[in-house]
Order: sequence, then C-alpha cells, then structure tokens
Amino acid sequence: MKNFTDDSTESEYRGNALRKLLAYMKPYLGWFFLCLILILALTGLDLYRPMLIGDAIDLFEAEGNYDVIVDTAIKYSVVLALGFVFNITQAWILQKTGQKIIFTIRRELYLHIQSLSSRFFDLTPVGKLVTRVTNDVEALSEMYSGILVRLFRNIVKILGLAGVMLFLDRKLALISFALLPLVAALTVLFRRIARETYRLSRTRLTDLNTFLSENISGMRIIQIFGREKRKFQEFDDRSGKLYRAYYKEMMVFAIFRPLIYLLSVLSLMVVLGVGSREVLGGSISIGVLYIFAQYIQSFFDPIQELAEQFSTLQSSLASAEKIFAILEEEPQVREPENPVILPRILGRIEFSHVWFAYDGENYVLRDVSFVIEPGQKVAFVGATGAGKTSILNLIGRYYDIQRGTITIDGTDIRLLSKKQLRSAIGQMQQDVFIFQGTIESNIRLYNESITREDVKQAAEYVNASRFIEKLPRGYEEPVSERGATFSAGERQLLSFARTLAHKPAILVMDEATANIDTETELLIQEALQKLMEGRTTIMVAHRLSTIQHADCIMVMHKGKIRERGTHQELLARNGIYKKLYELQIHHDVTA
Ligand code: CTP
Ligand code: MG
Repeated sequence: MKNFTDDSTESEYRGNALRKLLAYMKPYLGWFFLCLILILALTGLDLYRPMLIGDAIDLFEAEGNYDVIVDTAIKYSVVLALGFVFNITQAWILQKTGQKIIFTIRRELYLHIQSLSSRFFDLTPVGKLVTRVTNDVEALSEMYSGILVRLFRNIVKILGLAGVMLFLDRKLALISFALLPLVAALTVLFRRIARETYRLSRTRLTDLNTFLSENISGMRIIQIFGREKRKFQEFDDRSGKLYRAYYKEMMVFAIFRPLIYLLSVLSLMVVLGVGSREVLGGSISIGVLYIFAQYIQSFFDPIQELAEQFSTLQSSLASAEKIFAILEEEPQVREPENPVILPRILGRIEFSHVWFAYDGENYVLRDVSFVIEPGQKVAFVGATGAGKTSILNLIGRYYDIQRGTITIDGTDIRLLSKKQLRSAIGQMQQDVFIFQGTIESNIRLYNESITREDVKQAAEYVNASRFIEKLPRGYEEPVSERGATFSAGERQLLSFARTLAHKPAILVMDEATANIDTETELLIQEALQKLMEGRTTIMVAHRLSTIQHADCIMVMHKGKIRERGTHQELLARNGIYKKLYELQIHHDVTA
C-alpha cells in the first residue's frame, strides 16, 4: 500500500486522484453540461432579482405610480418560479448522477477486493476495508453531487456580482472590495487548518472502525478473559480521539463562518455610509444603493462557501486516494491470460522442488517434492509451524510459490483458471465458516447447479440430516452469522455436506476432526470415510490415530518432508514419527 513521506509525491498523487475521479464522470458529461447551463441561468436570475427591485424603487420614487409595484411583483414572481424550477432540476440531475457514480465505484471496489489474494487479507484489517467501501465512498458522493458544481456556481457568481458592481458604480464597488485581502488571508489560513482536521478525523474514524470490527468478532475472547474494562478503555480512547477530531473540525467552521459574516457586515456598513452620501449628492440613485446592499451580502456567501468547499474537496480527495490505493492493489495470485481448461480433474497432485515463503524471504517450505495419485489418501503430520497448512494453501493456489512447480493432472496450477482449480478442491478448515442465511443456502453456497435434492442427499450421506431434520424448519432453518447457534460438531457436519454437494475431485482437510465431542465423533468418522471414497484426499491431523489408515504419511519438520511411508513403515523406521506416536500414546494413557 502507498505511504506518503514527502509533500510533493502526495500532491502529485492527489492530482492523479482528481483525474481518476473526473474520469468516472465521463458517461454523464451531457448531464453535467446541462447542469452547468442551468447554473449559469440561475446565477443570471440571482443577479437580476435585486436589479428588478432597485429599478422599481427608482421608478416608484420618480413617478409614484402604484402600477410599478404590481408590475415588479409579477416579474419577480416569474423570476422566482423559474429559479425554483431550475434549482430543482439541477439538484435532481446532480444527486442522480452523483449517486450513480458512487454506486459504480462501490461496486468496482468490492469486485476488486474479492479478486485480491490471501496475502492482502492476512495483512489488512477488516474494519479498514469496511470503512473504505462505506465511509470513504460516501465522502466522494459529496464531491460529485455538490462540490464540483457548486465551485463552478460560486466562481461564476462572484465574477458576475463583481462585474455588475463595477459597472454600476466603480468607486462604491472598490470600497466594497476593500476587505477582500483580509478575507483571502483568512481563507488561506482556514484551508490549512481545515485540511489537517479533516485528515485527522478520517484517520480516527478508520481507527475506530478497525477496532470495532475486530473486537466485536472477538467479543467472546474478551469476555472469557474478563478484559471488558481494558477493551472499553481502548474503545473510549479511540472514540474520544474521534470526538476531539470532529469537535476541532466543527470549531474551525464555527469560527470561520461568523468571521466572514462580520467582514461582510463591516463592508455593508461602509458601503451604506459612503453610498448614502452619494445618494444625497445625487451621483447615484437609491435603487443602485439597494442593489449594492443586496450584492454585498450575496458576495461574501460564495466566498465563504468556496473556502469550505475547497476543504471538502480535499477531504474527498483524501478518501479517493485511499480508495484508489486499494483499487491499484494487484492480486498477488494472478489469473493466467489463456487458462488451460481440463475436461475433468482426476486428482493427481505433484509438488516438485517447491520453495515457498509468505513474505518472499523466510522460507516456510524448502524443496518439498511428492506425488499423490488419484484416489490416494495422504496425511501430513509434524510440529506446529512445520508448514502443513501452507502445503494445503498452495494446492488451491491461495499463494504463489517462489521456486519449483505444483501440477494437477500434469498441468501447472498457474496455467489453470483459479475457478476450475478451486472448484476441484473441497477444502475443509478447522473453523467452519457459516454465512447468514439458511441451512440450505449454507450447503449450496449460492451455487445454482446444486439442487434441493443434491443438498438433501449430501446431508444424508454425511449424517448431517439427523440434526437438520430435528430443526423446526429443517433445511429452511435460518442461520445467524458464523452459525453461533450450532455445536462445533454440527457445524463440522454442515461443512462436510457443503463440500460433498460441490463434488470435488480432491479433498483437503486441515484438522477437520480436531474439536469434535465424542458423541458426534463416530458420526463424523463415518461421514469422513464416505466423503473420502474415490477422492484424492490430503489431510492434516495432530491426532495420529485418525490417520493410521492413510496410504502415505508425510512427516514435516521445519518446512521439509523428513519421513514418508505408511504407519507401519514409519514406526519401523524408529524416527520422528515413532517418537510422536509414542508421545501421544503416553499422553492418551495418562489423560
Ligand atoms: N505463516 C506466515 N503467514 C501466514 C501463515 C503462516 O508467515 N499467513 C508462517 C507461520 O508463522 C509458520 C509457517 O508459516 O511459521 C508455517 O505455518 P503453517 O503451514 O500454518 O504451519 P502448520 O504446520 O500448519 O502448523 P499447525 O500445526 O500449528 O497448524
Ligand atoms: Mg496448520
């Protein structure tokens, strides 16, 4: 991910972000153009309204005719009505196009996150990603539906007002502008402070979201270890920081706005003072003075808005920058350009001199070679951290290796499409992930080709149907996030049914039977036997008793395969496996 160290690269990057943001407007350029025209018209009307009344005042003063008032009132109403229609149309176009663009970006972002590899998720906190897709994208919406167009509107308005004022009376106009340098200085100062506070509150918000998503998922552990107080302090600390950041942001605005207002009132007073004398001297009419008074008020508003919009623009850009940093993140595991399509995967797996490191430096697997024939059952054993799970991760290509090759049915897995490769592998993990939905949706996992019948068959086959049918609504039973309402064994049986329903050629199990209570143990063993029938199976188990019947057992030690053979062969070798086995028997006896 990008880190900014000096200001120049940062502003360069901002420029890029702006260009990319503008690129999203392309499909809607016609609409935006229409909006700009409407805004020009609106600004014209804004300028015209005070003139209408100013003229009326002069006419009324000269002729004293009541008709002038009625006439002006009618004209004024028409102008107001037109303005109203333009305003609504322009707001409608902006909101619609703005929201559409945001929708597109959100969608692109999620699709991209989905395409990223395991390594990215190993290193990125979930809360951060959630903030990107929600808050940061939302921050862009302000930019599309408001800022860009309002920037334009305000600039046009300021220029228009200044132009008309200069045209009406140069001296009075220059007096009105006298305080502008002060306004400019204030604005620059405001922008600098506002930018800092914006950035601060964004960071603080991400911090809080990251904390929340992690700690709500881990609430159980917090409660088990009685760390509520400590965690609350941490929460309070982050929440307090966010509060102070927002407060600072508000304070900056709260001071800036009245200051600008004060300056506008000062200008107004000066202009009224000087102007009245000119009216008395007869060099300008009351109507012109009225126009000036109105203009000065509407002159300072867009200036203040401009300053604020620049800082909002900056905050949008800060968000955009973060969003694009994710969009530019390349998936480490790449899809081949012209994937080889195998008609059918039989399940022959070969590792040939495989070297692998998660971080590219510290090798977790060193020169690992083995062949598993279709239908064979192979088990990996070894100490914690030996690299067993890593081997399983490599078969489904969740990470790419640094050296050597991994082939399935003789084809390098880097040449296969990830989809075909992964759908051939039924991977079961120790902690079964259950999604919100129903029992059925969790077994099918939104795979349209799996019918209701398939789901039932799979569940029956692996002995899951017994507990499912006892549920009040059977296969339609709603399941909460993470399947918290089921026992570990039930979740395991569900995951077996899920794997079976997808009919993989290769079965990969990581400690799949580790945390099962004795009551379901038999059910599970039976289910497993059925699941393994006719499938290449690779399993990792700490309990050696569960793998004694494997065709081949590989003993891993510090990233290498140190021993391989059947249970009997390995025992006869009197090596690492024998020691592990004896330790476990001893343990089982004493336990
Ligand atoms: N590792 C890593 N990054 C990951 C996963 C693992 O750097 N995303 C490292 C671990 O620190 C470990 C090594 O890779 O030192 C091997 O991990 P693994 O293959 O998961 O070990 P296992 O043999 O599966 O260990 P266990 O029996 O504890 O599951
Ligand atoms: Mg493991």
